[in-house]
Amino acid sequence: MSGQAHPLRLGVLISGRGSNLIAIADNIRSGRLAGVEIAIVISNVENACGLALTRELGLPSAVFISKGRRRAEHDADVAACLREHGVDLVVLAGYMRLLSPEFIAAFPNRIVNIHPSLLPAFPGLDAQQQAFDYGVKVAGCTVHFVDEHLDHGAIILQRAIPVLDTDDAHSLASRILTEEHQAYSEAIARIASGAYEFQGRRYARRAS
Ligand code: GRF
Repeated sequence: MSGQAHPLRLGVLISGRGSNLIAIADNIRSGRLAGVEIAIVISNVENACGLALTRELGLPSAVFISKGRRRAEHDADVAACLREHGVDLVVLAGYMRLLSPEFIAAFPNRIVNIHPSLLPAFPGLDAQQQAFDYGVKVAGCTVHFVDEHLDHGAIILQRAIPVLDTDDAHSLASRILTEEHQAYSEAIARIASGAYEFQGRRYARRAS
């Protein structure tokens, strides 16, 4: 998958705002994220803001509405679309749908996610609010591989920021999001570089 001759082809899965997707697309376009291209953006929500932005950017997109569908059936359609588009790496960017075990098994170590906390602290929903309510002094975001457990797979990269006394959960979430927009591209660049390897749960630069 990594360090390959052709660009690493991303399949980006979204459900909503799509700001991480747009940040990745911007970084590719500006050359800050090299050796990578967006092959397809897939939304499971028809009127997702991120979908409209994707179309404005002229990126290929598809919609597979998940509501009311069995998870495995919906995921099979998404997987087929990703394969049709030659996707090497599945990038979850605010994808608000749990993945079926079949989908995860179909893309081993080829699905990544960004979570707005320093995992393993505060997995699940409303991570920034959880961190704020807990009273942590350092917060941040984590880019990680996806395995069968929630917000659990090997960590690719984390970025930390201080929690200020003047913060509320909203301002904290907004500053974490700014970090996310850089962290996701940096993490994808690590994968694309081919310079990193798994060492158990660790994903680290291989010894040269
Ligand atoms: C981000 O906070 C991300 O960490 C979480 O969902 C949010 C998605 O935001 N997984 P966006 O749709 O990329 O703007």
